[in-house]
Amino acid sequence: MQIFREKDPLIKAIQKAKSEKNIVGLVPTMGALHEGHLSLVRNAFKESDLVVVSIFVNPTQFNNKEDLEKYPRNLEKDIELLEAEFPNIWVFTPTAEELYDNEILSENFDFEGLESVMEGKFRNGHFDGVGTVVKRLFQIVTPDKAFFGEKDFQQLQIIRKLTEKTGLPVEIVGCPILREDSGLARSSRNERLSSQNRKKAAFIYETLKNVNILFGTESANYITKWVENKFREHPFLELEYFEIADSRTLKKINEKEKGKNYRAFIAVYADEIRLIDNIALDN
Ligand code: PAJ
Repeated sequence: MQIFREKDPLIKAIQKAKSEKNIVGLVPTMGALHEGHLSLVRNAFKESDLVVVSIFVNPTQFNNKEDLEKYPRNLEKDIELLEAEFPNIWVFTPTAEELYDNEILSENFDFEGLESVMEGKFRNGHFDGVGTVVKRLFQIVTPDKAFFGEKDFQQLQIIRKLTEKTGLPVEIVGCPILREDSGLARSSRNERLSSQNRKKAAFIYETLKNVNILFGTESANYITKWVENKFREHPFLELEYFEIADSRTLKKINEKEKGKNYRAFIAVYADEIRLIDNIALDN
């Protein structure tokens, strides 16, 4: 394992590895690693010779200062986890000043509308922050491939748009959502739920599975109302949004068209903790 806190030695080491024809894979993370992140790293090792994991809690993508402060940080444990399973991994863990050359500001991106729905609507400026840090990481690491989870499906589509627009030569690989046994999508935020509330939060994925069944016969409007009702009746979980959208454009739909792919997206508060999930609709 090699740990880089500064970009220059990393850039040099990557140039050398690439000159020796190694395929470089990048897995960007904000740390507090769990099985979901590790599954991305496993995919990266299948498809690349050298894997770089970045661990960086990016201040520019938090629209809420308290959320940034509360974000779990445990670099030592993250490094132990990675080293135990991937002894050859490279870890990039810069400070904000080092990564951004002391200019910790977001660039403004036009992601052609992908940024203004769902997470973008409820988290102002979030995707400018994500775009800024991922572009920076791509410029430093120059990966051949970069791995992102479908857990953050909107983010994944935005990163695809980012590479299309910037022309950066990196292949974006989407990886499936890893879930707990209960079906709850794995997330560093789950740690903040009590074990009882964690059980209750399994209702989110149960609902999404029912949505997929209903999608065989019912319209998106009908299903949306059905979901809104289910959450209105729920004593604990509070729905922020539910949408059925085209998987490529992320635009809300009502009627299905042949040859297109759709997904259902959801954001829910469990106590103060915001959880997101999504499911491919194949009925
Ligand atoms: P973070 O939330 O740490 O997630 C890092 C990567 O892990 C993302 O691509 C995310 O989709 C993936 N991931 C998280 N939980 C997952 C799960 N249960 N199953 C599969 N993949 C999962 O997303 C970010 O960080 C940041 O926005 C980042 C891209 C690093 C930019 O700062």
